[in-house]
Amino acid sequence: MNGPPDPRHLVLVGMMGSGKSTVGAACAAARAIAAVDTDDLVVLEAGRTVAEIFTTDGEAAFRALERRAVRDAIASPVPTVISCGGGAVLDPENRRVLRDHGFVVWLRATPTTLETRLGSGDPARPLLSGAPVGVTLARLLARRESAYEAAAHAVVDTDGRTVDDIVAEVLTVAYA
Ligand code: S3P
Repeated sequence: MNGPPDPRHLVLVGMMGSGKSTVGAACAAARAIAAVDTDDLVVLEAGRTVAEIFTTDGEAAFRALERRAVRDAIASPVPTVISCGGGAVLDPENRRVLRDHGFVVWLRATPTTLETRLGSGDPARPLLSGAPVGVTLARLLARRESAYEAAAHAVVDTDGRTVDDIVAEVLTVAYA
């Protein structure tokens, strides 16, 4: 796949549990560049946790904060590894901004892999409350697959692989 015009940032997208934060931190360390997570930017801006924002203001309010976080991250003047919350790419404008200013890698994983990594849920991830986690993950992935594909310059499969192995492939596709 072709690289973007200005590959300053490395952008990681994918489902909850796909390893974006872990892989992002390792990629940033390997390249000696900054790493940022859009969820962390949202929490900083709002002064509340993601779960609190979902509960008190709803998902739409969270997505608005997330849009701003994506823009803030992408506006960084120094090369940065940007790990995006799992739903950030649902917004077409987020996809455009991320693709225009970064090299976007989709960390792909099957629902089974995601479920293994996330266990029976995570209070910090409000979308996983309610239905059984495996059912929710499969439903979300089916709805989102096309958005991840549209956002990504490259896809890295993560099933059954170590973090080191995934990081090595991400660095190869992004910087080789
Ligand atoms: C979400 C993923 C979460 C967080 C929020 C919503 C999603 O981030 O942004 O709970 O819609 O998939 P992670 O992918 O980092 O868990």
